[in-house]
Amino acid sequence: MKDKICVITGANSGIGKVTALELAKRGAHVVMLCRNQEKAERAKEDILRVCGHDRVDIVLADLASLQQIREAAAHINEHYPRIDVLNNNAGLITSDQRETTEDGFETTFGVNHLAPFLLTQLLLDKVLASDGGNIINVSSEAHRFASFDLKDLQYEKRKYNGLKAYASSKLCNILFTRELSKRLPQTNVVTNSLHPGGVATNFGKGVSGFFGVIMKMARPFMISEEKGAQTSIYLATSDEGYTATGLYFKDKKAVKPNKDASSDYNAKRLWEISENLLQIEFLPQSESTSV
Ligand SMILES: NC(=O)c1ccc[n+]([C@@H]2O[C@H](COP(=O)([O-])OP(=O)(O)OC[C@H]3O[C@@H](n4cnc5c(N)ncnc54)[C@H](OP(=O)(O)O)[C@@H]3O)[C@@H](O)[C@H]2O)c1
Repeated sequence: MKDKICVITGANSGIGKVTALELAKRGAHVVMLCRNQEKAERAKEDILRVCGHDRVDIVLADLASLQQIREAAAHINEHYPRIDVLNNNAGLITSDQRETTEDGFETTFGVNHLAPFLLTQLLLDKVLASDGGNIINVSSEAHRFASFDLKDLQYEKRKYNGLKAYASSKLCNILFTRELSKRLPQTNVVTNSLHPGGVATNFGKGVSGFFGVIMKMARPFMISEEKGAQTSIYLATSDEGYTATGLYFKDKKAVKPNKDASSDYNAKRLWEISENLLQIEFLPQSESTSV
């Protein structure tokens, strides 16, 4: 990993922080994309204390703001020659009250899916500039609980349920990875998604309702942040992480996601819907993605 440039979203906490720390310890130049300066600075200090070099930077952006994503991407594009690893790790779950981002998207869908979709589009040229670019998307086994509906991705028509919205956004991460792997030009850039495990992080803290209670009860039985980061680290550092593409990993092994997440039709439609919502064009469809 020596001198590889790794951009990690949500690198101030939980799985993202451990991933950032481990990659930095192996010599990577880590770019922490975080929304809160104070938290990011504290995490950076923790990483600098153990990593043995000073190539750890912070770029600030709230992923609930398209403008901030664009500004952060512009900063990264200006200051770094390439990106070797882009780890779309940041994610959240909301309570059972539907919330929207400043751009009017349902928050879970906006932060967990549209934000990495846009960030990846904006940073892709830098990933393509790497000898072996690697885009790693942190999804979840929660995708299996989704009531996936391409016609209501933002819970405008159905009764809002925070856990269901989260599950659907994590299913989007797998579909995005699947379609991205097909649309990427025939270069040495790969992309995979993963489930980190049930990990005792800050995830879901402060969320009220059923999910909040479940998380509190489950916390003692969850794995540590260090263990939870292992599949992200594996994909960023192993040979398989640079040869496999379009797959979904769990415990460092490719596993089959559910039916909705394995559908080429869903992957293509989600891509088109995301392009429309963001009013962008992102990688034309190749023949192999026609369904
Ligand atoms: N923990 C689990 O059991 C579990 C299981 C399956 C999948 N995952 C996935 O793992 C990923 C990492 O979660 P974690 O467990 O490490 O939780 P975490 O400790 O809460 O970390 C989440 C990170 O995402 C950042 N984030 C959230 N909303 C953001 C926004 N609007 N803009 C920028 N950054 C934002 C958080 O920033 P702040 O610190 O500022 O809030 C934090 O750095 C998530 O994608 C989650 O869905 C977790």
